[in-house]
Amino acid sequence: MLSIKELTYGFEAGRPIFENLSLDVKPGEFVSLIGPSGSGKSTMFRLITGLLEPDHGEIIIDGKLPENRLGHIGYMPQKDLLLPWRTVFDNVLLPLEVGKSNRQGKAQEIRAWLERFGLADYEQAYPKQLSGGMRQRAAFLRTIMTGKNLLLLDEPFGALDSLTKRKMHSWLLGIWGELQKTIMFITHDLEEAILLSDRIYLMKRTGIWEFKVHLPRPRSPELIYQQTLISMRKELEWLIHRES
Ligand SMILES: Nc1ncnc2c1ncn2[C@@H]1O[C@H](COP(=O)(O)OP(=O)(O)O)[C@@H](O)[C@H]1O
Ligand SMILES: [Mg+2]
Repeated sequence: MLSIKELTYGFEAGRPIFENLSLDVKPGEFVSLIGPSGSGKSTMFRLITGLLEPDHGEIIIDGKLPENRLGHIGYMPQKDLLLPWRTVFDNVLLPLEVGKSNRQGKAQEIRAWLERFGLADYEQAYPKQLSGGMRQRAAFLRTIMTGKNLLLLDEPFGALDSLTKRKMHSWLLGIWGELQKTIMFITHDLEEAILLSDRIYLMKRTGIWEFKVHLPRPRSPELIYQQTLISMRKELEWLIHRES
């Protein structure tokens, strides 16, 4: 689905924030990207979407090197960018307008999605009237409405309190099976990364490490209390804090 080969990028010439970095994401996988703040996670997403161009290396999507990468990807930036003057319904409709689909024909489909996202009663509400969890679900739904199979989500639950985040996890684990999307997910929450992911990439100044999560699906949020998850978390913490 996505293959990154020997990617190097720096905002200033001669001072790369990462060098020769490679990673792969297979169709249908849920892959998290973790790492210290400033390690280049959001920059990596902006490179994948084509908002930035690599200094060296290749970004291959579906076996091709597309000129217009954003056209292949649904991207949810770190800050949710719902338009404050549009209702939930009209925010979710946005990618379809850009794609020139007609509003009438899509209304039913959007209502069905709003229902699954727990937003049915809020379709005419404005973003400022929503709770944090609802806003993130609306932004996520808008990303899904792009119709793309590869979704990049940059800390979608990062600003939520821990109880709301738990609810979002159980909701996401619940619909994950039906979505049939490939997701790359940035988080600084290790528990969240383990609970949701098939694999985790740890990004540091010194390189990138892959970590496989051998937990069967479907998964329950209760897993966070189990010893297997706690041990994985310890191992990840050790990888993050060790010297190189
Ligand atoms: N537009 C920019 N211009 C210059 N430096 C930037 C810009 N955006 C990010 N950086 C720097 O690049 C590094 C990686 O940033 P970022 O990708 O946002 O990290 P992360 O998402 O892992 O916290 C940081 O040192 C940050 O200060
Ligand atoms: Mg970031």
